[in-house]
Amino acid sequence: MKVLCIGDVVSRIGRDMLFKYVDDLRYSCNIDLVIANGENSNHGRGMTRSCYSEMTRAGVDFITLGNHTWGAKEIIDILKNEHNVIRPLNFPGKTPGRGSAVITLSSGVKVGIINLIGQTNMAPCNSPFEAADREVERLRKTASVILVDFHAEVTSEKVAMGYFLDGRVSAVFGTHTHIQTSDSKILNEGTGYITDLGMTGPADSVLGMNKNIIINRFLTGMPQKFEIANGRGQFCGCVFTIDESSGRCTDTERIYFEE
Ligand SMILES: [Fe+2]
Ligand SMILES: [Fe+2]
Repeated sequence: MKVLCIGDVVSRIGRDMLFKYVDDLRYSCNIDLVIANGENSNHGRGMTRSCYSEMTRAGVDFITLGNHTWGAKEIIDILKNEHNVIRPLNFPGKTPGRGSAVITLSSGVKVGIINLIGQTNMAPCNSPFEAADREVERLRKTASVILVDFHAEVTSEKVAMGYFLDGRVSAVFGTHTHIQTSDSKILNEGTGYITDLGMTGPADSVLGMNKNIIINRFLTGMPQKFEIANGRGQFCGCVFTIDESSGRCTDTERIYFEE
């Protein structure tokens, strides 16, 4: 089976990129499951009900989140009522929503999906390593394929997570930095890995934001009101090919293009 994982969808431009390209990719690459990180889909902050509807109509089957989970308050209702949206598992214990799910594909294959968030340069949260350890063991009882979105800032934490879960999950993909890394590969024990999928959103931007405002901030050191960038879009993701009987990843293919 093939899974297309799409990096942080930012704003209207990112959502439009999904409408334009997900269907084509699904058919041309024979994709069985499309997962996207939606934490910035609402104009950079959180995911509203209308963003959720647009992303699913555009062909996204499952949505993960990150540090911007609470950017739009409708997310609490979405997390409660929609089976295909999860937030980081290692958020504090009383946080609404779920941090993992098991879905059944039309082929009958059961896929477990886990969303984790890093501890370095992020708000306080529980250990993603301990949370992953427990959850992977739990999901392995029902799911032959397990996918992990590790939403984290620093490369070392993400690389360590890849090795920590190597052989126990089918793929670990990083999100959050909005910059795609070129290290997609299969680890020694069969786990597909990439440090960061990158961003699906405004191409001429600093991580999705208006570049002139960010440059001005660096030039002056003064606080600036950030604005989402306009213009042409870019699409970032990675396709993992997985042998569903063994759970091993057999191929990874990075996707990066600008309009
Ligand atoms: Fe993001
Ligand atoms: Fe993030």
